[in-house]
Amino acid sequence: MRDANPGTIYLKDYQAPNYLINRTELHFVLGEEETLVTSRLHLLRNTENGDSSELILDGQDLELVEIYLDGDVLDPSCYEVGEATLLLRDLPEQCLLSCVTRIRPQLNTSLEGLYRSQTMFCTQCEAEGFRKITYYLDRPDVMSVFTVTIDADADRYPVLLSNGNLEETSLLANGLTRVLWHDPFPKPSYLFALVAGDLEHIEDSFTTCSGREVALRIYVEEKDIDKCDHAMDSLKRSMRWDEEVFGREYDLDIFNVVAVDDFNMGAMENKSLNIFNTSCVLCDPNTTTDVGYQRVEAIVAHEYFHNWSGNRVTCRDWFQLSLKEGFTVFRDAEFSSDMGSRTVKRVEDVTLLRSAQFAEDAGPMAHPVRPESYIEINNFYTLTVYEKGAEVVRMIHTLLGPQAFRAGSDLYFARHDGQAVTCEDFVLAMEEASGADLGQFRNWYSQAGTPRLTVTDAWNKEAGSYALTISQSCPATPGQDDKKPFVIPVAMGLLGDAGNLRLQLQGEAPDPDTEDNTHMVLMVDKPEQTFVFEGLPEKPVPSLLRGFSAPVRLEFDYSRNDLCRLMSGDDDGFVRWDSAQSLGVSVITEVQAQLLAGDEAQVDPLFLEACGALLQDDALDPAMLAEMLSLPSENYLAELAGEGAADVQGIYRARTAVLAAVGSHCREALEQRYAQLAVEAKYAATGEQIAARSLRAVCLNYLAAAGASGLALANAQFAAADNITERLAALRVLSQFGSRSDWEAPMAKFYDDWGHETLAVNQWLAVQASMPDDGAIARVRHLMEHPDFDLRNPNKVRSLVGTFAGQNPLNFHREDGSGYRLLRQVVAELNSINPQIASRLLAPLTKWRYYQGRAEQMRSELELLASMDGLSADVFEVVSKSLK
Ligand code: ARG
Ligand code: ZN
Repeated sequence: MRDANPGTIYLKDYQAPNYLINRTELHFVLGEEETLVTSRLHLLRNTENGDSSELILDGQDLELVEIYLDGDVLDPSCYEVGEATLLLRDLPEQCLLSCVTRIRPQLNTSLEGLYRSQTMFCTQCEAEGFRKITYYLDRPDVMSVFTVTIDADADRYPVLLSNGNLEETSLLANGLTRVLWHDPFPKPSYLFALVAGDLEHIEDSFTTCSGREVALRIYVEEKDIDKCDHAMDSLKRSMRWDEEVFGREYDLDIFNVVAVDDFNMGAMENKSLNIFNTSCVLCDPNTTTDVGYQRVEAIVAHEYFHNWSGNRVTCRDWFQLSLKEGFTVFRDAEFSSDMGSRTVKRVEDVTLLRSAQFAEDAGPMAHPVRPESYIEINNFYTLTVYEKGAEVVRMIHTLLGPQAFRAGSDLYFARHDGQAVTCEDFVLAMEEASGADLGQFRNWYSQAGTPRLTVTDAWNKEAGSYALTISQSCPATPGQDDKKPFVIPVAMGLLGDAGNLRLQLQGEAPDPDTEDNTHMVLMVDKPEQTFVFEGLPEKPVPSLLRGFSAPVRLEFDYSRNDLCRLMSGDDDGFVRWDSAQSLGVSVITEVQAQLLAGDEAQVDPLFLEACGALLQDDALDPAMLAEMLSLPSENYLAELAGEGAADVQGIYRARTAVLAAVGSHCREALEQRYAQLAVEAKYAATGEQIAARSLRAVCLNYLAAAGASGLALANAQFAAADNITERLAALRVLSQFGSRSDWEAPMAKFYDDWGHETLAVNQWLAVQASMPDDGAIARVRHLMEHPDFDLRNPNKVRSLVGTFAGQNPLNFHREDGSGYRLLRQVVAELNSINPQIASRLLAPLTKWRYYQGRAEQMRSELELLASMDGLSADVFEVVSKSLK
């Protein structure tokens, strides 16, 4: 909490530390009221960086009890305790500094540093939580070998964990148990972890490629012990995959995972002791949806992959966060693609990117993949750093090709093992291994904003040539008015009547490889470029940005007929899906205009026919079909509308009308598919079952939008389901399209049956938070009083309030402003409890410039927050930047 305006930190001000900490010894005495932490820091002056004998350690909410230098009590004239610092003067070049600090994990609601979750102690140190444990150089470029001793009551805390290997266990005279953990790998403080609790575990093992045996353990509360198998299987698959695809072998004899209920993010890659939000590791058919199973697999992989991309090679400073996160998201996406359907995975990722990251990149918090400044680093764990960062790595992969990319990755890991480095180091390794010049490509790291590609074409019938002219631009973002051109790989093909055409660029030698000459990657690197294709028998339809080869907005004036042709005939699965989306956007936008003019909705028969044809297409993977039949989301439609133009009600009404029209027009086919796809076998999270359930849910949604028969099917589905995926799909449909009498009983029954399962309750909260009816706000307020709700638990807050603000556009944007008020009140309260969550929750209000007729109301809620006393740095940064 800060009273004055917190300061801004700049990348350009980076300085190496003036001391290093070669070894760090920590001793914890965990108590029910307070915890005593004794540190022994083996300091060495970093002579590369001048000769100062002054050292400023970070420390927050600490009570300094004792301090010693080389064994002697340190004279008070030699140190000064500040608000968030401990300043030391006249330090020798090499010394042992020891501090005893008192902390109160039981009162720590920020969930950073050492805190309590239910009955256990746990830690979250990334990014700057370690300073809440003891005074330290809490920055990633200070890497140290940690030895950790923990004393605790063995009855309450039979399990005592930290990083590395367990070296000793003993019983102390005072009745406490003592354990000693040693991690041989030097690491920054953000990767430190400690867990103490009464936990059960499952155990397995993995033999690495060089034949070493690794013990794998997942620790959970006893009640959850049956929910760990999927995570364990995912872990083993990840370990094997990283050996095979990236040549990365695990490096210790033990790998632990712990599940905790109260957690700010998804999970954390602490060295050999990953800590997970329960929602990202536990799996059970009655608490975890199909999507949840897939998410667990992806997050287990993500955290495991960090062992190399993050831990062995870490970040020099937090501006380089995407170095580890962008690369690791790329790695986990590749893993998921290999485990399931590559195209479906790509579609899911692009959907998130376009509906949420593009909005972030167009809003007041827009920042480059490598930001240049921040007030609170927690605000920069963003879709831009993670997801766009992964897209940047993916483009390097596309530019270099798989072999050279792998060589670059190998060089990066070999050269920087044990170091804290920068995004530039990553790019340099990629360049050196491949010989490619990524000079201009680096603009992707330094420039914010989503580039816009405008494409026009010209067909010359006599010459049989076809020209594509591509121009690029990028809108201004905060602090960056003018942008230099990006290097944009545009993967493409040309579609003719009988399929994809052979590509021959003017002025280039014909491709001798006749196998794959229908696919090409155009390098767009100038403000405007023309590419001419020759030898074409007919005017083609361009298939552009295949596989979403760059994170850009692409504009081409397709006719609806062209879109239908791409949808059914292109070789690229992503383009097929994207064409369906574009068609959906165009049809919904048209209906929106009709309704606004007071006319009846007239859905283009072409679209209805296209949906009908898709439903008959038995060759298509049902998971892909489900994606192709899913209309663009309301958030995506609002994003496309642009500043000042998003009419939430209009979008909702139009989208619902299109749903209903498809539901009526295709009723028979939908009912047939719905019946055919019923899974008879016992629930399993297999690709085949998941695909069937997802397409069924899409069918059910259309049928319910179209009327009562769909609601009846939903009711029957709810009653018959043996899993939460189908229960929730039914509840969602009933509560979106039905009236109170349709959803009230099943909603109550769900809680009666599953009220004892926290993760199921969270989803029950989320379904209710997204209901479109007029009672929504009162319902959310009422649920905030529910005994199962807890403002201190981030999962609950996200499920109820986060879902309301992010996934209930109709009610969040109510004309009377009551939705905005609700969010502001919760953020105000959370500001002092958990600033990180408060600030994240706030995101929907920052998009105030988008909403037609709502900007003033949204803005004034932000102003109320801005005027609050005791505003956290987290909330201050988001509010003040949004109001600029
Ligand atoms: N490094 C973690 C991950 O991406 C995320 C932890 C972020 N925590 C935070 N408090 N900002 O796997
Ligand atoms: Zn990560």
